[in-house]
Amino acid sequence: MHHGYEPFAQDDPFPAYAALRSESPVHFDERVGYWVVTRYDDVKAVFEDWQTFSSENAQAPVRERGAEAKRIMLDGGFTAYSGLSARVPPDHTRIRKIASRAFTPRRYKALEPAVRENVVRLLEDLLSRVDRRGDLVADLARDVPTVTILTLIGADTSQVATFKRWSDSRAAMTWGDLSDEEQVPHAHNLVEYWGECQRLVAQAHEEERDSLVGDLVRAQREGADISDHEIASLCYSLLFAGHETTTTLISNALRVLLAHRDQWDAVVADPARVPAAIDEVLRYSPSIVAWRRKALADAVVGGQHVPAGAELLLVMGSANRDESRFEDPDAFDTTRPNARDHLSFGFGIHYCLGNMLAKLQTRIAVEEVARLAPWMRLVDGERIRFGDNLSFRAPVRVPVTWEA
Ligand code: HEM
Repeated sequence: MHHGYEPFAQDDPFPAYAALRSESPVHFDERVGYWVVTRYDDVKAVFEDWQTFSSENAQAPVRERGAEAKRIMLDGGFTAYSGLSARVPPDHTRIRKIASRAFTPRRYKALEPAVRENVVRLLEDLLSRVDRRGDLVADLARDVPTVTILTLIGADTSQVATFKRWSDSRAAMTWGDLSDEEQVPHAHNLVEYWGECQRLVAQAHEEERDSLVGDLVRAQREGADISDHEIASLCYSLLFAGHETTTTLISNALRVLLAHRDQWDAVVADPARVPAAIDEVLRYSPSIVAWRRKALADAVVGGQHVPAGAELLLVMGSANRDESRFEDPDAFDTTRPNARDHLSFGFGIHYCLGNMLAKLQTRIAVEEVARLAPWMRLVDGERIRFGDNLSFRAPVRVPVTWEA
């Protein structure tokens, strides 16, 4: 009945997606309590109709929090709510407008030289290894976007490991399938994480800071309608969304290109091809494969009636492989003319605010590997695993090697 679809299993969900698209494109999955939507037109139509399909459930825990985790979070003063993605108009419109002003392309364009320097330094470290083996996740993709977002926000860039630990906890606590007992250490991490977001806002009130939090606090002082709790919530969002998915995109871009040697060689020969290659990676292997919405009224999705209150899981990982939209969808092809039609950044009023920053950093990472290590290759025969999660499909390790 589920056509092989396992909501939390991410190693290779694509055959099950194809079966669902053809046999059961909108179906209720009682194991998770969501209507699973798998065709391109249906996913896009739901994203587009924000009046009927609210994003208010986008950050809700998929599995109910256990009693002990709830107690830890309550005692720890955890009151974080979504920065933007689970907010709905008019609050969403108001906060997004203010955030967009602080979140300018100018601010992150200025970061480009530092990003490149960071990439080159990490690559040089990796390439100096005598065993000529590395892991592109741990050795490159984890640090690059994390340092960038910490710099933008104005947080401590020496604390990458701590922020990654908190982010792993957020991904597991919200979109994972954890037992009550497994939730406990993550609950402690979320309390620490939220405490740091509040501290960053307090600090920006005390001293002028040239950072995104500084911009938001200044905007508030000059009359913008945004509270400290909302600014801290934006930090809570960005200190996760701003690196987690980009770590995955950098890992995937290199993993997929290296696995298609002819296309890797074409990128090495002509780096102007990198942006198109990244669009195709986003289509073929999105960092987020599924995102949630809630029907506020009775509705019809892909010919299927869904009742008011229904929760929907929009499977962008499947929409991006829909044969009615993309020719030969399971082929990775960096010259695909409509790769940019992918839904990996969502669509409509919540369209990803950080998409340009994610693509900028991934472009730099791919360009520098192509320049400094064109002969890099994946370790033969090593199967790449993806962590269990409902929404985030992230390779655990991408082992690489190279000849002397
Ligand atoms: C490969 C990297 C990324 C992917 C795949 C991604 C994906 C997404 C998706 C699917 C959404 C929800 C869209 C919707 O509901 O229609 C979203 C929203 C958002 N993303 Fe990203 N994202 C990435 C990188 C980033 C970065 C680098 C930042 C910030 C620096 C960021 C900040 C946000 C924010 C603030 C929202 C909420 C926007 C809103 O609700 O108005 N994302 N992203």
